[in-house]
Amino acid sequence: MCAFACRAGETPTFYRDVLPILQTHCQACHRPGQIAPMPLETYQQAARYAASIKAVTQSRTMPPWFADKCCGHFSNDPSLTTGELSTLAAWADAKAPAGDSKDSPTAPHWTAGWNIDQPDVVFKMPVAKHLPAHGDVKYQYIIIPTHFKEDKWVSMSEIKPSNRAVVHHAVAYIRDPKSNWLRGAPTGVAFSADDLPDPAMRHDAMWTDSDILLVYAPGSLPDRWPNGFAKLVPAGSDIVLQMHYAVHGQAGEDQTGIGLVFAKTAPAKRVLTLQLTNDKFQIPPGDPSYRVEVHGSLPNDALLMSFFPHMHLRGKTFEYNLVAPHGRVQTLLRIPNYDFYWQLSYRLATPLLLKAGTVLQAVATFDNSNKNVHNPDPAATVTWGEQTWAEMMVGFFDVAVDPAIDKKTFFQRPR
Ligand code: HEC
Repeated sequence: MCAFACRAGETPTFYRDVLPILQTHCQACHRPGQIAPMPLETYQQAARYAASIKAVTQSRTMPPWFADKCCGHFSNDPSLTTGELSTLAAWADAKAPAGDSKDSPTAPHWTAGWNIDQPDVVFKMPVAKHLPAHGDVKYQYIIIPTHFKEDKWVSMSEIKPSNRAVVHHAVAYIRDPKSNWLRGAPTGVAFSADDLPDPAMRHDAMWTDSDILLVYAPGSLPDRWPNGFAKLVPAGSDIVLQMHYAVHGQAGEDQTGIGLVFAKTAPAKRVLTLQLTNDKFQIPPGDPSYRVEVHGSLPNDALLMSFFPHMHLRGKTFEYNLVAPHGRVQTLLRIPNYDFYWQLSYRLATPLLLKAGTVLQAVATFDNSNKNVHNPDPAATVTWGEQTWAEMMVGFFDVAVDPAIDKKTFFQRPR
């Protein structure tokens, strides 16, 4: 039975009923060159997967989405409606009829190789990083000068590893010409903090107040800011890529790049990526639900745009809350079943104006028990660390502010 996309009593067909769903909900990943294992663009490609399409949509494993319906509405929520779910199920049950190809919707326009518009500029690691088959690889930094002669407003950006199998995460920082961070370190070649001669510089490698352009992690989406919103890359800035590689028994190489689309007009709002971080926890061995909390008050008014929670393999739940003066908690986003292999951003359908002084809280729980199939060592006491066998607790969030305000001025509290 199909409830919505096809007429009552009729069996859904591929071209008329199924293809439109695949186009809007699946093909961003299920097309050549993207992260999914197989394309779902043609009848032949989809028909052989009809039964598993039904199974993974009924179980809501596809499309991947982890926000609890309890809280918040998100503009990038790809979830299928009950009507779409029953269309896919009825189509599979009817042995995947093709129908008439004349009923096809117009093919969506994809930018070849990207999930953003055609980039105005692509910055790529100048040389590929060779990776060993085994062992931990220290965070690699690659400084790439933009040579921008003027300030650039970036409305979309996408980080694209050349080898997704080895990139555990990547952060693209904007090092503006006034910043001293990693100044004097080599440009264009990958190095780790340990390679730096100066102990102070080694120590500072991980800690920077540079603005973040974009974070990439498994399953994550590119940035596409709404009209009137953009990130600023000041003239003379460098892009600093921080690469975390995780290898799985096979030597290889990677040459990650980042594509930028410039805003067509000067934006009304500047987007800043901020973070709530707790790096002082100790997760006891075997604990199935260890709670880690962090909160902070906003130094200035800001429009809250989106969230990106980050933990490692023991991550279990994650929550962003507003805490009112009398302790009343309002949950903005709740991830009841965090999945390390699907790190998504969650964009508020309606950005939320937060007044200066508003307390924003992030709460994570970690599962360090042997029930957690991803747990590398339930007997370990786990603390903060770069590698996946250690943990992280970072609640990234994006805010929009006046275009003249940078991260440093945003953090100056008015007296
Ligand atoms: C955000 C990217 C993304 C979206 C959107 C997405 N998929 Fe997937 N899909 C993947 C990835 C990656 C895998 C393989 C890894 C996994 O199974 O978790 C996968 C696996 C699958 C599989 C299992 C393949 C197998 O080997 O049996 C099916 C079936 C599937 N997807 C169908 C769909 C359908 C139908 C939609 C839309 C309703 C969809 N997917 C949306 C990324 C995506």
